[in-house]
Amino acid sequence: MSDLKVLAISGSLRGASHNTALLRAARDHSPDGVTVELYGGLAAVPHYNGDLDDDHHLPAAALDLRTRVHAADGLLIATPEYNHSVPGVLKNALDWASRPKGASALEHKDIAIIGASTGNFGTARAQLALRQVLAATHSHVLTGPEVLVFTAHQRFDETGTLHDPVTIALLRETLEALRTQILSRRAPVR
Ligand SMILES: Cc1cc2nc3c(=O)[nH]c(=O)nc-3n(C[C@H](O)[C@H](O)[C@H](O)COP(=O)(O)O)c2cc1C
Repeated sequence: MSDLKVLAISGSLRGASHNTALLRAARDHSPDGVTVELYGGLAAVPHYNGDLDDDHHLPAAALDLRTRVHAADGLLIATPEYNHSVPGVLKNALDWASRPKGASALEHKDIAIIGASTGNFGTARAQLALRQVLAATHSHVLTGPEVLVFTAHQRFDETGTLHDPVTIALLRETLEALRTQILSRRAPVR
């Protein structure tokens, strides 16, 4: 069987983002049977505008996002925490991905949430906010393991590489749980 494809979306636009670095670590330490691909299009996604949300006006970046979410077997979303919630750029991208309602790319998509913040709570509040948003999309969000990387500025080296074995193991467990959930939802091949 070919590898499951997981699209990894970071909610940060920063070049030195801890969340993007966390996704690189997930990609580099992914378990057998899972290929993680980093989505790099977030900065190009315009503000959601219902006037543009039709076949004639859909912005290319929004179409690309929807196409890539559709094509992925699952999503791994790394959210920063901004003022106890999800960054606007991430919420905006999910708003685009959530349409058309009832037939969107997020419908029945298996999703794992992780996050890194420089604070002491490791994006706990942002992850809860993200769960609330995704509950509206009929996606299937993993309940665990929870990956809450607190004091993130102490966990990556100057190249943005993660060396902490506990966090690396948690990332692998998360992807294994995502793989199990994706496969459990599929009809058995006869
Ligand atoms: C506007 C703004 C609000 C923030 N609010 C929080 C917060 O509520 N809780 C927290 O732990 N960190 C907060 N931070 C700090 C972020 O956790 C930190 O900047 C983190 O590195 C952002 O993620 P990134 O490295 O992936 O860009 C905030 C940062 C910004 C810019």
